[in-house]
Amino acid sequence: MTSPDNHAAKHEGRYPPGSAAFPHRGLLGIAGLENHQLLFLLDEAEQWVALNRQSHKRAEHLAGLTIINAFFENSTRTLLSFEIAGKRLGADVVNMHAAQSSVKKGETLIDTAMTLNAMRADAIVIRHASSGAVRLIADKVDCPVLNAGDGRHEHPTQALLDALTLRHALRARGGSGEIAGLTVTICGDILHSRVARSNILALTTLGAEVRVCAPPALMPAEVEAMGVTAFHDFDAALAGADVVMMLRLQAERMQGQFIPSPREYRHLYGLTLERLARARPGCLVMHPGPMNRGVEIDSNVADLVGTSLITAQVEMGVAIRMACLEVLTRRARGVAGWEPDWAPDWAPDRAGASA
Ligand code: MLT
Repeated sequence: MTSPDNHAAKHEGRYPPGSAAFPHRGLLGIAGLENHQLLFLLDEAEQWVALNRQSHKRAEHLAGLTIINAFFENSTRTLLSFEIAGKRLGADVVNMHAAQSSVKKGETLIDTAMTLNAMRADAIVIRHASSGAVRLIADKVDCPVLNAGDGRHEHPTQALLDALTLRHALRARGGSGEIAGLTVTICGDILHSRVARSNILALTTLGAEVRVCAPPALMPAEVEAMGVTAFHDFDAALAGADVVMMLRLQAERMQGQFIPSPREYRHLYGLTLERLARARPGCLVMHPGPMNRGVEIDSNVADLVGTSLITAQVEMGVAIRMACLEVLTRRARGVAGWEPDWAPDWAPDRAGASA
């Protein structure tokens, strides 16, 4: 396994040394992260991909540390993925399922943050239905916070795991694994999707050409300002695409009728085998899950061996989350080069912390 020091030597020059490689206190979003910082996390994840493929999947980097997964919104794969990631690094992992609780936002959320802080967690992973809620908590606690999805805002580890999945798939085909220069079409409910937002930010920062495709009602206004090309015609959006990323209709975030019917939606925006043939030969298919088979993606596409990366995405999710947890706890663990003499990009907002 590669230690942080060996890793730095291996990639000398690719990013700054020590904590300058990732000078952030937490991972609240992809926004604000630079190309080399994304590459750093992807490179860090490689050692964990290798570990996770062994029968003995255990490291001790986080032994003695406590990680709290505070999920205020339902989740299966993301919660499990973070739990496995923490445990494989030797941490004590506690899951707080607050989805059914009356905790919403504002003062109550701050009280929750103060409670988690008083328990002296070493990292807190948060999922919340409200955009910005994770930042609110992060501002009140002393340890690193990782955003596991906040409302329509961001889902940074999903975008990172998608990039890692693409890198591995491209290398498996004999390529360099470079994301720069790829044409990636993201199709579905762009308006309500935090996965779309984080992926647009990550893929454009890594140098991909990103197209987004949705019915007019599910396309955010001025999405082009994010450096993407917007399409309403899926066939046109697929022409020449190297990768197509399908998204679920986020019904839980919709107020009102956004599509005429699932049948009509599938007809125009569902990924079928026939439609996939319009993309570049060898086009890779991704989906963050959960999938609605027969709506945004057909089963014979989702299960297409050599084309669909959907299970690889789940595998890479554990590795990328291990990388994020390991990197973000380096200062607290006193890893050489990561001493806490750094200039944080933001500091805890102690004002009002006792409110
Ligand atoms: C999410 O949490 O945003 C999921 O990974 C994607 C979805 O729910 O459709």
